[in-house]
Amino acid sequence: MIIGFIGFGKVSQNLVKLISSDNIKFVTSAENRSEKTIEKINNSNIQTLDTFKDVAIQSDILISANSPKTALNVAKEYGRYAKGIYLDLNNISPDTTFEINGHVDNLVDGAIVGKIDSANPILYISGENANELLFLNDFIKTTKISDRIGDVSILKLLRSTYTKTLSALLIESQELAKDNNLEKEFFDILTLTEGEDFKEKSLSRISNTLNNSKRKSEELEEIINYFNENDLVMVKAALKKLNQ
Ligand SMILES: NC(=O)c1ccc[n+]([C@@H]2O[C@H](COP(=O)([O-])OP(=O)(O)OC[C@H]3O[C@@H](n4cnc5c(N)ncnc54)[C@H](OP(=O)(O)O)[C@@H]3O)[C@@H](O)[C@H]2O)c1
Repeated sequence: MIIGFIGFGKVSQNLVKLISSDNIKFVTSAENRSEKTIEKINNSNIQTLDTFKDVAIQSDILISANSPKTALNVAKEYGRYAKGIYLDLNNISPDTTFEINGHVDNLVDGAIVGKIDSANPILYISGENANELLFLNDFIKTTKISDRIGDVSILKLLRSTYTKTLSALLIESQELAKDNNLEKEFFDILTLTEGEDFKEKSLSRISNTLNNSKRKSEELEEIINYFNENDLVMVKAALKKLNQ
């Protein structure tokens, strides 16, 4: 079996490490890629083809893992050559996933939850062809959500709805606690009900949100746009908080 990658960054490199089998060959291309990516390709045991078109044609499973901004164009350009499975792992909105589905024959909607280089990332998949990827369970925990394209993308958005809104609430609560000289006690008292690692996780979530506030705001806007028929009071408040 041949697994091909369009994009050879952190996600693809880690998948090559995780999916280690004598029966699977990996391919990608260095076509128009940066020095950094070419170095990563050269340092791995993956075969390099001349073009991404060749990669698409030869792959039984073509994995698109490049960036949210390029995912749609990549699908438009190479989707038509992929006769096997096309697995999209980019962090894209459900609307983009549906659009990609129009350019690709055998799309599987995918997401890696948990950092890809963490001990146990989980691969979520949906779509009529998702069953064909369940063998990946031998290498990375793989969970099929449904036969519907879009379900994994929506699930990702639901997860963000909760985590990003909660982060804004944590920022506000911590500010209040600081103003009242009760920051340590604030975390201590919540640890009693929220679990031992509450403080550590909260501080990491707060700093991650503050350091990436522009991207987080954009992601909240994407949630509000996608669920525009629902009245998202909390998400809108979180967006206001992050924009302050
Ligand atoms: N990192 C994670 O834990 C994680 C988890 C879930 C989902 N994701 C999603 O998975 C995707 C990849 O993430 P990553 O962390 O692997 O990104 P990354 O480390 O930044 O790597 C992106 C790779 O895609 C290549 N690329 C960009 N545009 C391309 C194009 N038009 N054609 C071919 N290759 C192209 C880049 O090459 P150049 O260097 O030449 O630009 C680079 O090799 C993203 O959409 C991300 O949102 C990531």
